[in-house]
Amino acid sequence: MAVILHLSGPRAQWWLEHLRGLLPEFDVRPWDDPGAPEEIEQAVVWKPPPGGLKRFTNLACIISIGAGIDHVLADPELPAGVPIIRTTGPELLQRMREYVVLHVLRLHRRLPEIEAAQPLREWRQLINPPADERRVGVMGLGNLGGDCAHALALVGFDVAGWSRTPRSLEGVTCLAGEQDLERFLECTEILVNLLPLTPATRGILSRRLFDRLPRGASIINAARGEHLVEEDLLDALDRGQIAQATLDVFHQEPLPPDHPFWDHPQVLVTPHVASLIDPVAGGAAIAANLRRFVAGEPVPDLVDLAQGY
Ligand code: NAP
Ligand code: GLV
Repeated sequence: MAVILHLSGPRAQWWLEHLRGLLPEFDVRPWDDPGAPEEIEQAVVWKPPPGGLKRFTNLACIISIGAGIDHVLADPELPAGVPIIRTTGPELLQRMREYVVLHVLRLHRRLPEIEAAQPLREWRQLINPPADERRVGVMGLGNLGGDCAHALALVGFDVAGWSRTPRSLEGVTCLAGEQDLERFLECTEILVNLLPLTPATRGILSRRLFDRLPRGASIINAARGEHLVEEDLLDALDRGQIAQATLDVFHQEPLPPDHPFWDHPQVLVTPHVASLIDPVAGGAAIAANLRRFVAGEPVPDLVDLAQGY
């Protein structure tokens, strides 16, 4: 059974070798050398080029090298009705938990101000409220958001979470839907975005949302660049409505060298590393899902295409 792998960049060969090792019973082929397209039955992809998958006329499933599937659905010529499987696993959760706790603590303890004071040799003793007096809001309470909200509550933060349908999480005030958004935002001092990118969430981090947060709130976007209206963030930073932004994802990746975020004093840019899937742990999760799918067994990571995430 032939599997096509699409991944560009320096990790492509690493992935190819690992998947071949993990799936010896499959014929794993690189994107640029697929052989006869009709032999391909499975595709393992990260951002395939638009129209790239339609030549594989016998495709039975598409596996996203990622928890998100928006980059697969973005193909206007995506073969219709082909099941899509996302990639999850404990390592993905662990890495995102580390990233979110690290950056929430950085903002809570006002580290950017302390770091800015060091070159000035300024002894800037800042007194912060304890974590239980700091309200952190997590948008998206799914696999990653739910785990991060729980971890932040364990650190001691006053955590609220927001999802599409009502959720229940120990130690977290759970709110849901448009009717609760105002209440969720009005006390959120540090906002963490872990929503999937869908038509309903695209551009959600906009002026309208920023202005509903308390003045001087901070945001962390670890989901997708297209959630953020970049010019609205720059304006909110200029107006003092938003104090700090930690951004891991961008409309264009890599972020172009002349982008204003790079040298903005209130923006921390991280290069889409919040929770990168690696070929060791991610490859094992993909191999397990592929085998389950081919054997006709239930695949928990199978995406509900009607729901869109
Ligand atoms: P998930 O398990 O599908 O959870 C999505 C959550 O968002 C759910 O709680 C869902 O509500 C909520 N949601 C969806 N649409 C909504 C809407 N319109 N309004 C309010 N809430 C909505 O997703 P996940 O695995 O946690 O991943 C989230 C995203 O993180 C991915 O899609 C990806 O974009 C991003 N990600 C980034 C990195 C990185 O390295 N930066 C790594 C991995 C993933 P319900 O609970 O009601 O369904
Ligand atoms: C990474 O961004 C993912 O979706 O896993």
